[in-house]
Amino acid sequence: MTVRTETRTILASAEATAAASRCLADGGLVAFPTETVYGLGADATNAEAVARIYLAKGRPSFNPLIAHVADIAAARRIARFDANAEKLGTTFWPGPLTLVLPRGPDCPVAELATAGLETIAVRIPAHPVARAILQSFGKPVVAPSANVSGHVSTTTAQHVEADLAGKIDLIVDGGPADVGLESTIVGCFEPPLLLRPGGLARGDIEALLDRKLADLPQSEDMAQPLAPGMLTSHYAPRSPVRLNATTIEPGEALLAFGSSAVAGVDKAAAMLNLSDRGDLVEAAANLFRHLRALDASGAIQIAVMPIPNEGLGEAINDRLRRAAV
Ligand code: TXA
Ligand code: MG
Repeated sequence: MTVRTETRTILASAEATAAASRCLADGGLVAFPTETVYGLGADATNAEAVARIYLAKGRPSFNPLIAHVADIAAARRIARFDANAEKLGTTFWPGPLTLVLPRGPDCPVAELATAGLETIAVRIPAHPVARAILQSFGKPVVAPSANVSGHVSTTTAQHVEADLAGKIDLIVDGGPADVGLESTIVGCFEPPLLLRPGGLARGDIEALLDRKLADLPQSEDMAQPLAPGMLTSHYAPRSPVRLNATTIEPGEALLAFGSSAVAGVDKAAAMLNLSDRGDLVEAAANLFRHLRALDASGAIQIAVMPIPNEGLGEAINDRLRRAAV
């Protein structure tokens, strides 16, 4: 599936900020400069807008995204801060630092944006254009780097155009991103972990915390002793998942897609449809929410109808396959 959208590029200004804010509120995709790299932003609370980010980037899987907010009060509304997180946030924000924290109880960010994890990555960027947009919009904005999946991050509006013209709504041109390197990501766990080196030096973080940061274990196996969900590791339901189901066994829950009939559905323990009109953007937006709800339904297993492997279907199937093992 390809999407063609008219992409407007406008120079940073008060009008550009207002246009960006309106576009985000309408569920659109806006590329904007941060001091690290350009971000591709969407309203973090709008699951379909978030799904369109993955579509525009052509990401074959749903990596969790960073939620950008204007100030630390807004950050505290979406995540739980421990003492280390408070220290890091109050010292290095706004700036090239992202903190991975436990999701707050009233966090309004779509589950798709956090890939169903119990944690959320949060950042307050320093770039004046990013700050103006976040302040004006007033809600968290998820923004991965504004590049096609597999390409390098973009640091100018022209690079964003080269990668994403025709796939996103608006590019706000605020000149070159001066750090040129993505933010440093720290997982605020015990021990604190360096999840990605980036624009803020490890030594500065270690000096503030007065301790060394642990390194990310190299393989998922080595990550096993760590708390589940704290790394980029994927969300997995407790119930077994059965893929490509065309019939339902008694006691199973059905995760449906589209409008075709499934034999035995009357005996299903529960049923939710990712998209009854067969729309893959809508299906992606509902994926983690529906999986969680069916997991909580007490069904012995979750049977998933076949999902076409095109457009966002590829990423949906990637997540479902991981959930099935
Ligand atoms: O500088 C930056 O960080 C830029 C600007 C736009 O803010 N953004 C950026 O986003 O680089 P992205 O999506 O390209 O990289 C975000 C990284 C991914 O590797 C993702 O796996 C990780 O952050 N991440 C996000 N949420 C996470 C979580 N809950 N736990 C662990 N890792 C997470
Ligand atoms: Mg990236």
